[in-house]
Amino acid sequence: MIDKKIPSHVAIILDGNGRWAKKFGQPRSFGHYQGGRNLFRVARIAKDLGIQKLTVYAFSTENWKRPEEEVTYLMTKPIELFYKNRDRMNEIDYKITFAGRKDRFSKELLEVMEIITTETKNHKGFELCIAVDYGSYDEIITAVNQCKLPITKESLEEKLMIKEPVDLLIRTSGEQRLSNFLLWQASYAEFYFTKVHWPAFREKELKKAIKSYQNRHRRFGGLA
Ligand code: IPE
Ligand code: IPE
Ligand code: MG
Repeated sequence: MIDKKIPSHVAIILDGNGRWAKKFGQPRSFGHYQGGRNLFRVARIAKDLGIQKLTVYAFSTENWKRPEEEVTYLMTKPIELFYKNRDRMNEIDYKITFAGRKDRFSKELLEVMEIITTETKNHKGFELCIAVDYGSYDEIITAVNQCKLPITKESLEEKLMIKEPVDLLIRTSGEQRLSNFLLWQASYAEFYFTKVHWPAFREKELKKAIKSYQNRHRRFGGLA
C-alpha cells in the first residue's frame, strides 16, 4: 500500500465520541477524553505514512449549542491535560496549528494554544491542524471581507484559515455530511465514510481509508 500514492492533505471529521461512550455505558465526556487521546495516536500514524497535513474537526462553530456541561468539559479539560502532560510536549516532533475563531475562548485556553503553536512551529514535514470553533461559513465570510475587489480564487484562498486543498476527507461514525467543514477546500476531495466511532478509529482504519483513496480515479473535470 505504501508505495502507491499517499494523499498529501487528509481531513477527518472526528465524530462519534458520544455514541462510543454510550456503548460502554459511560458519560459523553469519557468519549471526548478517549477521542482526544486517539487524535495524537492517529497523527503519529499519519506522519509515519507520509501524509503531509492532517486537519481534524474537533469543535464546530455550531457545537456551542450543546449542553453547557459538555461545552465546559471540551473547553477546560484540554487545558488541564496539557499542563498535566507538559513534559511530554518534547515527544511531539511535528507542527501543530489551530484553525478557527479565536474570540470565544478563555484566556487560559488561548494561552495553551499559543504555547503549542510556538513550541512546534519550527518542526518540519508534517502538520497537525486542529479545527476548533471552526466553521466554513465563518471562514469564507471572514476571508471575503478581507479581500480587495475583484476577488480571485487565489486572493480568497490566501485569506482562508486552511489554504491547502483536501485530498481525502474521512468522517467517522456513520454520518455522511460535512457539517460546515472545509466546504471550499474539499471541492475535489475524495470522501470516505466509516461506521467506526472516532475513539476506535486506529491504524487499520486509516490504512483502509487510504487504500480506498488509492483506488479512486481523480479527474478534476478532465478525462482519465
Ligand atoms: C465528536 O463527537 C466530537 C465533537 C463534536 C466535539 P460527538 O460529540 O459529535 O459524538 P456523537 O456524534 O454525539 O456520538
Ligand atoms: C461535526 O460533528 C463537528 C465535529 C466533529 C467537531 P457534529 O456531531 O457536531 O455534527 P452533526 O451535528 O451531527 O451534523
Ligand atoms: Mg456528532
